[in-house]
Amino acid sequence: MVSFKFLSLVCTASYALGSPLPPLAEPILAVRANTVTYNASLPNVTIFATGGTIAGAASSSGQTTGYQAGAVGIAALLEAVPEIVNISNVQGVQVASVGSESITPSILLNLTQLIQKELDSPYCQGVVITHGTDTLEESAFFLDLTIRSEKPVVFVGAMRPSTAISADGPINLLEAVTLAADPAAKGRGAMIVLNDRIANAYFTTKTNANALDTFKATEQGFLGFFINIKPKFYYHPALPLDKPYFDLSGVKSGAELPQVDIIYGYQALNPAIATAAVASGAKGLVLAGMGAGGWTDGGNDAIEALIKTNKTPVIYSRRTMDGYVEPTGSFGIGGGFLNPQKARIMLQLALHAGYGEAQLKTIFEYYG
Ligand code: SIN
Repeated sequence: MVSFKFLSLVCTASYALGSPLPPLAEPILAVRANTVTYNASLPNVTIFATGGTIAGAASSSGQTTGYQAGAVGIAALLEAVPEIVNISNVQGVQVASVGSESITPSILLNLTQLIQKELDSPYCQGVVITHGTDTLEESAFFLDLTIRSEKPVVFVGAMRPSTAISADGPINLLEAVTLAADPAAKGRGAMIVLNDRIANAYFTTKTNANALDTFKATEQGFLGFFINIKPKFYYHPALPLDKPYFDLSGVKSGAELPQVDIIYGYQALNPAIATAAVASGAKGLVLAGMGAGGWTDGGNDAIEALIKTNKTPVIYSRRTMDGYVEPTGSFGIGGGFLNPQKARIMLQLALHAGYGEAQLKTIFEYYG
């Protein structure tokens, strides 16, 4: 018989037969571990829940827009997928219950520190993070740059709320847990699971506001597919070339990361927006430029003045879906292959780590 038990922040799949999990180092997780019995023949996967559409609820089964994201807790998500207990001992931690537009740097910091501790434990084979799809690529990229472990880190979301007819959340969650429990998933960095696809967190972006097959890296492609819920990889484990790592283990909880703003490029853009962003506290800017990162003459004058006067680091990225961006003219830093939202995360982490101009150029223009 399978049942689910709950603590205030924690829930666990438990089994009628089995022995208790050994206590873990981290205080919240230790409370959880003492309540668990488990099937010793299965791997242990921890699910960190943050909200999003996968946890969304609407007033009717046909409603797939305008619903409340993050309304349903991890316990209900697990109850919808009883098959999970045949694959893994799962334990859930509710980290947040928000739409992903409300994920903050402080939630990300908490998440990466909790997950690093969990992955460092010999009892954990992998982790899954349930997350809203709108900014999932940002959180997945953040963890990809701040977790140091061979063990699988798998982000999962859904495009239809949990109350929808043919909701995609349950199968996505089952596949995500299966992937996190699979030794073949080791050494691939953070991954994203949706619509039967396995994608890497580094390059993948959300491409469609509504469709189930929204996550793509059109140039770099997928890592694999699911057949009968089993992951099938296309390649041996590989990581993006010289992906940087930022150690956040010693950072105090509640700490802020530097403000970095994204400025969107368009015909006759208003150069004062960049200046206003810096005046309101931005410590760095990312430009979503036109084509291969093009910016207007007037806009470039304003950017050059900000770089010279305020020493503001400026990353030239692109509003186009894909491609490589070099700096415009003799100033700024090229965003390489990173889209603006990923470039923003990388610049925040690099500024927090104290990187100067030369180091920024190295991580963006050579490796980004
Ligand atoms: C969200 O990102 O929280 C809402 C949209 C989604 O999860 O698909």
